[in-house]
Formats: sequence, C-alpha cells, structure tokens
Amino acid sequence: MQTNEQLLDLLENYLAQRELPTEPERLYDPIRYSLAGGGKRLRPMLLLLSCGLFADDVDVALPAAAVEIFHNFTLLHDDIMDNAAVRRGKPSVYARWGGNVAILSGDAMLISAYRLLAQAPPALLPRILEVFNTMALGVCEGQQYDMDFESKQKVSVVEYMSMIELKTSVLVAGSAMMGAILGGADEEQSRRLYQFAIELGMAFQLQDDLLDSYGGEELGKTIGGDILEGKKSYLMVTAMSRADEEQREVLRHTYKDAALAPAEKIARVRAVFDALDVPRLTEQQISLRFDRALATLDGLNVPDARKEPLREYARSLMGRRK
Ligand code: IPE
Ligand code: IPE
Ligand code: MG
Ligand code: MG
Ligand code: MG
Repeated sequence: MQTNEQLLDLLENYLAQRELPTEPERLYDPIRYSLAGGGKRLRPMLLLLSCGLFADDVDVALPAAAVEIFHNFTLLHDDIMDNAAVRRGKPSVYARWGGNVAILSGDAMLISAYRLLAQAPPALLPRILEVFNTMALGVCEGQQYDMDFESKQKVSVVEYMSMIELKTSVLVAGSAMMGAILGGADEEQSRRLYQFAIELGMAFQLQDDLLDSYGGEELGKTIGGDILEGKKSYLMVTAMSRADEEQREVLRHTYKDAALAPAEKIARVRAVFDALDVPRLTEQQISLRFDRALATLDGLNVPDARKEPLREYARSLMGRRK
C-alpha cells in the first residue's frame, strides 16, 4: 500500500501529464498557471483515499482527479467575485490577465473537467456524473448565497453554515463519495463517507475564514481580504451576534469607510473580533467539526487499519496554516 506522500506524487504526475493546446495562449496559459502547483490537492486526495478504503488499486479513480480541475475553475471565478488579487502567493488569474480571461479560461476548465471525468469506467459513469452534477450545482448555489450575504444585514450562524456547506463541503464530500463509488463501496458506506467529508469540509472552510483574517504570509492570499470585501465570514457572523451597538456599527460600516486605509480597516475590525473572543470561538467550532468528521469515519464498516491513511490525512489538516 502506498503512503499518502506517494499518493500525492501519483496525483501530481497524473495532472502534469494532462496536455493542453498552446494556442490561443491567453486561453490556455492561465489554465496551466492555475493547475501547475501550489494547491493542496485536498479534493482529489480525499477521492483517492476514499477509493483506497475499498480497493487496493486506486488507478481506476484517477480520471476523477477532474474534481481538482473543477475546483481550480471555481477559484478563477471566485477571485473575480471576491475581487481577490493574490492566490497561492502569486497574482490571481483575474489580476494577471483580467476578468474576461478568467471567465473564459474558467469555462474551458469546467469543460476539461467533464472531458477527463468521462474516462471513468463506463459502468460507473452514470452514478459518478450524477454525484458530480449535484455537487457542481450546489457550489454555484453556495457562491450565490455568499455574494447575497454581503449585502444582507442579518445573517444567522445557521444560514452561514448552510452557505458554506454548499460552496465548500459539497465538493469535498462529493469527491469522497466518487472515490468510494469507484472503489466499490455500497450505498451505506458511500453515504457515510459523504457525511464524514461534509463535516471535514465545514472545518476546512471555517479554518479558511479564520486564516483569512488571522493567517500569515504562507496562506498565499491577501490577509484581511474578507474584511475588506464585507464578507459574512464565520468570524463576522459570530461577532455580530455578540456585539453591542457601538461594536456593531464598526463591523457594519468599516469596510466601506472611504476615509480609512485598508490596513486601518482590518485593524479596527480585528480589534472588535478580539474583544469578542471570536478567534477562540472559531477554533472551537473547527475542533468540533473535525471531531465529528473523525467519529463518522470511526463508524464506517471497513477494517480499521484500512481507514488509517484517510484518518491521518484528515488529521494533517488540523491546525493548517495554508
Ligand atoms: C480554497 O480552497 C477555497 C476554499 C473552499 C476554502 P483550497 O484551500 O483547497 O485551495 P488550494 O487549491 O489548496 O489553493
Ligand atoms: C471559496 O470560498 C469557495 C469556492 C471557491 C467555491 P472563499 O472565497 O472563501 O475561498 P478563498 O478564500 O478565496 O480561497
Ligand atoms: Mg468566495
Ligand atoms: Mg474567495
Ligand atoms: Mg476564504
């Protein structure tokens, strides 16, 4: 059995071998740039590890690395929607080539993802496509709620949780489920794996929100980006639910205050987060979700030794800084 590191190598090689035309350059260069590296490969890793729970040979699941191409497509469009100039420590496609290029290269990536996915074993393809399509529409729904919430005055924690379940968890969970199906899991097993990865995805997005405001340079994104965009992150939603009138004013209006420099806006909002103990409350919610994910994995009826690589991988995400 291969180690998780070897599995990542296998995946990187497989992705690197995907050939793209050279012209038009401004269509394909951004795709190569986006897929080339720097990403953690979370979704295809979960997919292969989920497949490995049931099958000794995971090669059959490699075309489903299409989920990584899909993920990178969502990032090209997400950076336009979020006005984000930096991704993986480099200019985002949107910042480097402009919005029109990011839209069209993103579209071509979505098509490439389907083309790769079509290479899955024909007998399993209808089920795989159904999971993929449901997941992909879910992500679009989540992304729309994310944007709607920017201008919505009151967003509850429940509303926030269902938004991130759609924009992030369904892709993470759909990936795990596709891996399970390709590995030969039965209905009950693939459903449980889906639930495991939903919780893992929630923890992952909560970490993403925390790192966006409190992370370091290694994150490779503009720290404070969510604050400057007026995003209803978990931190913002939690802070709003605990703030007094004066603090609420700061949370509501700082990001659009033309008299303040970006660094000042970030400092002001973070000061309120700190005063309300928001970073610690977020950490608590992250731990809770990780615990739930691991407990769900414990309940999966597969020999325990087979679960170890996936468990180890999930644990490696705890306390991540990028
Ligand atoms: C970023 O995903 C978008 C989220 C859903 C948080 P990742 O943090 O997995 O991005 P890369 O691919 O590793 O850069
Ligand atoms: C991203 O959420 C979710 C999708 C791309 C579908 P974010 O907007 O928080 O991701 P980052 O922080 O830009 O990576
Ligand atoms: Mg976004
Ligand atoms: Mg974003
Ligand atoms: Mg984010």
